[in-house]
Amino acid sequence: MKASVSSGNSNSSSSSSVGVGASAGAAYGGGDYPRYLADMVRRLEEVNNQLTDRVQKLEREERYREELRNRYEREIKKLRAEIEKLRTPPLVVGTVVDVIDDKRVVVRSSAGPKFVVNYSQSIDPKEAAPGTQVGLSQQSLAVVSVLPSAKDPSVYGMELIESPEVDYNMIGGLNEQIEEIKEVAELPLTAPEQFERIGVEPPKGVLLTGLPGTGKTLLAKAVANRTSATFIRVVGSELVQKYIGEGARLVRELFALAKEKAPTILFIDELDAVAARRVEDGTTGEREVQRTMMQLLAEIDGFNPRGDVRIIAATNRPDILDPALLRPGRFDRIIEIPVPDREAREKIFRIHTSKMKLGKDVELDTLAALTENATGADIKAISTEAGMFAVKRNKKSIEMEEFEQAITKIIGDEQKHHLYPKETGAMFA
Ligand SMILES: Nc1ncnc2c1ncn2[C@@H]1O[C@H](COP(=O)(O)OP(=O)(O)OP(=O)(O)O)[C@@H](O)[C@H]1O
Ligand SMILES: [Mg+2]
Repeated sequence: MKASVSSGNSNSSSSSSVGVGASAGAAYGGGDYPRYLADMVRRLEEVNNQLTDRVQKLEREERYREELRNRYEREIKKLRAEIEKLRTPPLVVGTVVDVIDDKRVVVRSSAGPKFVVNYSQSIDPKEAAPGTQVGLSQQSLAVVSVLPSAKDPSVYGMELIESPEVDYNMIGGLNEQIEEIKEVAELPLTAPEQFERIGVEPPKGVLLTGLPGTGKTLLAKAVANRTSATFIRVVGSELVQKYIGEGARLVRELFALAKEKAPTILFIDELDAVAARRVEDGTTGEREVQRTMMQLLAEIDGFNPRGDVRIIAATNRPDILDPALLRPGRFDRIIEIPVPDREAREKIFRIHTSKMKLGKDVELDTLAALTENATGADIKAISTEAGMFAVKRNKKSIEMEEFEQAITKIIGDEQKHHLYPKETGAMFA
């Protein structure tokens, strides 16, 4: 594509082909031929310039198209890969049981049986350590990918991110118990050197016992609120699962999470759901609960008492707990949460009526005297019930009359049902 200037000298036909007027020659006289030629050359140069410009423009356009094509090709490739990915058969999840050599491992597929399989070159042998979860190809069961450490999502859900809105000053009475729980659950985390200096091992686990409604869960929530450690809360019944081995796995993952997030306080509420005394009733369900408890025992044994995981458990049936749980080295500190005495009852009344509009005749110490044997939960229920009576009667404030009625309703009910035999309080003496 070279339109050279020299082509102007050749003949007029070439000039006409580039658009210079052929009639131009006639305008010049016979002697003016050199001028005509010079003129011609100039015009040809102009045309040449125009053409070079056009060539450049076309070249630019071509480059742009090329680029565009590349881009689309890349896009196509990406989409093809995506389609390929979507079309690949799912991987079987398995767990590495043993590493035989640098080519083969023993895996257990999620269905149960174990296999000796190869693993892909792209996998770092160090990553495929026993216990890791891996993805297996469906046909050959070869290890194709290493999956991130798998914990049940429900275990992650047990970590308390937001502290409950319970503070120590919302607990009536129980001052001694609050001090004690701080000492055994929090102090080893915040000031481990104090224990080291004296050379004692802090108790690994603390068990809160007491009648229903005496404030065990409340106390643990207050600890969660105040502590700077990670607080993991689980209710014993959540650990009881439908399938064999699932409960034990949850317990294992729970402790793994606790260690990962250390310092941690692990709170197991309603411990009796998993830790009831082992009885041979022969049902598979019962055995599964026992397996879960045995895993719990093993996990508690498995960590260092000076380490930074503390366990708090709560139960209202310490009498049915398996004695193995209570032996030294496990839940070796038992904090009894008593039924509130008169002074504590007054405080609890104060806490639960603090936002209520009370009549002038309401005396909290009289209420405390009237509610012998009532637990914190009863007192809360009495306060709410008294409020309800006042609302029903369209009163401006709650008076003694409503409280008296509420007491008869709540405490009377309880005695009728004999739900809580009072002697059980002594079961742990
Ligand atoms: N000492 C207390 N001070 C203030 N409120 C209390 C106290 N004890 C109990 N309560 C009230 O009773 C409610 C129930 O208490 P909580 O759930 O702690 O009982 P619990 O001991 O865990 O019972 P359970 O054995 O049935 O689990 C609390 O939410 C709180 O409102
Ligand atoms: Mg509770």
